[in-house]
Amino acid sequence: LSRDSFPEGFLFGTAASAYQVEGMASEDGRGPSIWDTYVKIPGHIANNDTGEVSIDQYHRYKEDVDLMQMLNFDAYRFSISWSRIFPNGTGEINWKGVDYYNRLIDYLLEKGITPHANLYHYDLPLALQEKYLGLLDRQIIKDFADYAEFCFKTFGDRVKTWMTFNEPRVVAALGFDNGINPPNRCSKQFGNCTDGNSATEPYIVAHHLILSHAEAVKRYREKYQDKQNGRIGIFLDFVWYEPLTRSKADNYAAQRARDFHIGWFLHPLVYGKYPRTMQKIVRERLPKFTKSEVEKVKNSFDVLCLNHYTSYYIYDPHRPPSNVTSYQQDWNAGTSVNTNAQEMQAHSEWLYEVPWGMYKVITYVKECYGNPNIILSENGMDDPGNLTFPESLYDSNRVNFYKSYLKELKRAMDDGANVSGYFAWSILDNFEWLLGYTSRFGLVYVDHNDLKRYPKLSAYWDGCNLLLFINKTSL
Ligand code: GCO
Repeated sequence: LSRDSFPEGFLFGTAASAYQVEGMASEDGRGPSIWDTYVKIPGHIANNDTGEVSIDQYHRYKEDVDLMQMLNFDAYRFSISWSRIFPNGTGEINWKGVDYYNRLIDYLLEKGITPHANLYHYDLPLALQEKYLGLLDRQIIKDFADYAEFCFKTFGDRVKTWMTFNEPRVVAALGFDNGINPPNRCSKQFGNCTDGNSATEPYIVAHHLILSHAEAVKRYREKYQDKQNGRIGIFLDFVWYEPLTRSKADNYAAQRARDFHIGWFLHPLVYGKYPRTMQKIVRERLPKFTKSEVEKVKNSFDVLCLNHYTSYYIYDPHRPPSNVTSYQQDWNAGTSVNTNAQEMQAHSEWLYEVPWGMYKVITYVKECYGNPNIILSENGMDDPGNLTFPESLYDSNRVNFYKSYLKELKRAMDDGANVSGYFAWSILDNFEWLLGYTSRFGLVYVDHNDLKRYPKLSAYWDGCNLLLFINKTSL
């Protein structure tokens, strides 16, 4: 398998997000997001790390883009920090923030790298959280669309691929159910369960995210798309759920798991309604789309960006649903996870290396959701943060990971899936949310003391030519 095995025009890129790489979190006029305050509370993040400085892409973007060019990437997926542009979420504009993204986009284009811009990667402006509880209020729909429209207007002459939200399921479930991400509503771990209601809030938030996405897409299509000749979509995180046995019960359980994970967002976007299993289990707690919302939400993407890392086996525990008090419990009604199967190799707590899951998840989307245009927008694995220089550079395990997943991606394409690009997570080691700097996903190693960058073996993409390339280049 080599790069040439993929069709002409197939994009190879890398991905990252604003808070994870930029740094300059409270400088040059940027307003705080809900992550900025969250990371400052001791105990939330490993080692109490923060993204305050991170890997300083704000200043080092040229060096990073040069690396992408040297490594032969076609595209870069970055995110725009909403509160760097609108420090209060709405109203006053921070032109220094606008200038930063202009510089980044211009430099990418100068180096022949296509910018893919994501409007939201978990970093809601804190001002909106404080003003009206952010994603819990319908006001978010208008405020997000206004921000999105500003970006289309300002950057859309050069950015031709837009994404509205990264992993809305994670936003809804981790922020409003188990509460381990901000705004950590109903977090048992952090003891503020009283102000949350995880039987309803994750569904309300998900509903608002879908409507915010649809409103931004509507504005893009009505006012900008033709003129700017671009496309728009959304990132959904897709874990593959495989039934543990061939029994009917396990098959149904796996389907319920897929509906609660994949279908929660993709079903409305394709069919204008939530999956039937969700309607049956969540009942009146599941919000409904009005007729005009159905029209707006249906088909509200040109390209579907799919983030895929891992797979789990699902079985039916033969347990009747008990009194439901959370999204997780709805999900668990008759569904259990088993990850002991021997072909599942764990990298970290959640990341099992299961290449065939890539084939299955793509084929599932192709068959159940009308063969949409897909970009595989995140895939990768981490090493522990204490793996240091230079061992970290010889990451043959990561090379094998990419090779085996790409092979399965190719197999799905050969069988008819409509996939037009692949993005590795991530170009550089960076701030890995709750794990801080204790987890390294990069193709390029970053020394977190002096922020110097060193490409790892896996940075040299083309599996077949890897050794050739290395012999010619001094690392
Ligand atoms: C995402 C992810 C990234 C992570 C990556 C590795 O939601 O897109 O959270 O931001 O860093 O998936 O865990």
